[in-house]
Amino acid sequence: MKKINFIVFLLLFAFVAKAQIKPNQLWLDSKYSMFIHFGLYSKLGGVWMGEPVRQGYSEQIQSFAGIFSDWYGYTAYSFNPEKWNADEIVELAKKAGMRSIVFTSKHHDGFCMYHSKYTDYNIVDMTPSKRDVMKELADACRRGGIRFSVYFSLIDWHFPEAYPISSHNADPLTDAHYQYNLNQVEEIMTNYGAISEIWFDMGSLTPEQSSGLYALVNKLQPSCMISGRLGNNRADFSVLADNEYPEYKIGVPWQTAASMFDETWSYRSWQERGKVGDKVKEKLRSLVKVVSRGGNYLLNIGPDGDGAVVPFERDVLLSMGEWIARYAEAIYGTRSNPFEHNPSWGDITCKDKALYLFVYDKPANGVISLNGVKGKVDYVENLRTKDDGIKYSFKKETLNILLPDTFAVDSVASVLKVAFDDSFTIEPERVVKENTLTAENAGKIYGYSALDYYCGFKSLIGYTWDYQKRTSSVVPKIYYTENEVGRKIQLTIDGKTEEYVLDGKNRVTEYADDVAVRWGNAYTSRGRGIFGMVPFEGKGFIDADGKDSEWEKINNYKAGNLQNRSVLPFYSEYMLLELNASRDLYYPVKVVGGNSAYVLLNGEYVSAEFPDSRPERSEKLLVLHLKKGKNQLLVKTYNRYSRNLSFGFLPVDDWTVYRFDCDKTNTGVEKLHRIEVKAADRVSGMVPMSLENIRIEL
Ligand code: GLC
Repeated sequence: MKKINFIVFLLLFAFVAKAQIKPNQLWLDSKYSMFIHFGLYSKLGGVWMGEPVRQGYSEQIQSFAGIFSDWYGYTAYSFNPEKWNADEIVELAKKAGMRSIVFTSKHHDGFCMYHSKYTDYNIVDMTPSKRDVMKELADACRRGGIRFSVYFSLIDWHFPEAYPISSHNADPLTDAHYQYNLNQVEEIMTNYGAISEIWFDMGSLTPEQSSGLYALVNKLQPSCMISGRLGNNRADFSVLADNEYPEYKIGVPWQTAASMFDETWSYRSWQERGKVGDKVKEKLRSLVKVVSRGGNYLLNIGPDGDGAVVPFERDVLLSMGEWIARYAEAIYGTRSNPFEHNPSWGDITCKDKALYLFVYDKPANGVISLNGVKGKVDYVENLRTKDDGIKYSFKKETLNILLPDTFAVDSVASVLKVAFDDSFTIEPERVVKENTLTAENAGKIYGYSALDYYCGFKSLIGYTWDYQKRTSSVVPKIYYTENEVGRKIQLTIDGKTEEYVLDGKNRVTEYADDVAVRWGNAYTSRGRGIFGMVPFEGKGFIDADGKDSEWEKINNYKAGNLQNRSVLPFYSEYMLLELNASRDLYYPVKVVGGNSAYVLLNGEYVSAEFPDSRPERSEKLLVLHLKKGKNQLLVKTYNRYSRNLSFGFLPVDDWTVYRFDCDKTNTGVEKLHRIEVKAADRVSGMVPMSLENIRIEL
């Protein structure tokens, strides 16, 4: 090989090798893993001074029961998990169908369940067992052929130079504490073999700290997937809130961590466990929900303080495993439901040449109809009975599957496989026939963004349009506003991607038709919880004047009045504004929020952002499509980093629209084309693209 060719080859190889490392395909295909919460708290089992501690998760008993740090630490002197048997746990995980195990190396209490050289507050140096149980588990995983992963708490209630215990656990990291975490992560990443994922948890780091830890893990183990709870969106996969199951599809690698019982992650001796069968159904449903939306499901167990797996939890896992084994091919290595909506009878996953239908309820007429299926069906099979002669027929592009009379739901669902001769496609539900592509006629791609646990929210990360045009090429013209000036975007047409910088040239001024829009009543309401929890989303109009309404009308509200409140951290404020339009029109409004703003128009998601620059006040121009008649514009602003919130809406008289002409793309004359827009200048795929006002003319 000539030298130059060899260099090109090397570069190409390096690029391909790098491109394949993350997201780690094995991780993506795993779908189901085990989480283990095991530590000193397991020995206390949710009991302190002989009384059950009912407040908070039991792994946080030290904080919820107000236990002095030395008294809590004494637990270590008698902590001897004699029944901890790593090989048995690995066997259980495998029988349960789990593909990796995530183990609590260090929880918030700061006690290390591995042999750390940076503190003797660890299981080897402090306890009579002297066993590095994490090492035992890492080795057992390797022997058993499943992957090993670690949980690592970013807060630490034992480290003297860390922040003290708080109610929320989202504390900053001092320099010394950050360094200590770096040291410990380094030893974990070095001494325990290959680690499939690192599950950072809690704390509230600066962007630099998140980047530092990210870089360290990436350097030591480049294929190790890093959890979103590291914060500031420096991560390889999004982690939703505890036990959260999204209704929307997520376009980045993601995971839901689930506990056996909502009340606790670690062992609680007095837990009411209920019936095994009910729990199996509940968790299988959740698993299918997560997998059909493209995510990974991480189900937790909390062994007893002696190290034994709780029999109830073992039974649940084994029974889930039996069901999963019957439907393995419909779960592992699958992708999310390729249709735009979730069916009423169940859930769907897919692979290249197959659709998998998880039927929870047999439709009354015994027929399952799938619209827009293009492909040649080879057979339809019930994966349990192996009956592959299930009848089906096509009516245009609707595939009708006739469930046999004998069809019965297997525990939570029976799975039908629709096998195709070759690949298949699903016709988009919405085909844009006009030449203008907007936020409204776009399909939306979401991620889950989080600066820390409480700032987590559904983030809009891309638009897609399926359009029809009979020409053999397009020269898209992108129209945008001041929000988008300077932004780098990624435009993909039929799979071919170009990047463009919206350079702020070619401008025209547009004027608001304020005669057509009347600003009506405005209301406020208070909230708390996680930023992304917006109970009004998708619920249509709010009856703010209703009898039991929690909304308070703002007296003498005038267009442009902002609300100023001093609020506690973690509290949020909503403002609702009525806009009455005499016709359908585009109308500009400046939305003002504190650190963040989540915006709905008539109950539908418009935009949500929580910038990692942590602004005191955020302001954003949104050009809204108002409908004739009454419209409701809602903003949620969340206080995470300040004491005062200024929020509301400002009227806009005129605004500038910029035009950017993209290069010509030859598309051929096929009937349908697909355009996708994403941001090309974000630290990771889960950050909102913040391109709400763009419009593309074809
Ligand atoms: C929470 C809790 C923690 C638990 C974790 C698991 O963030 O603080 O106790 O380990 O969720 O998802």
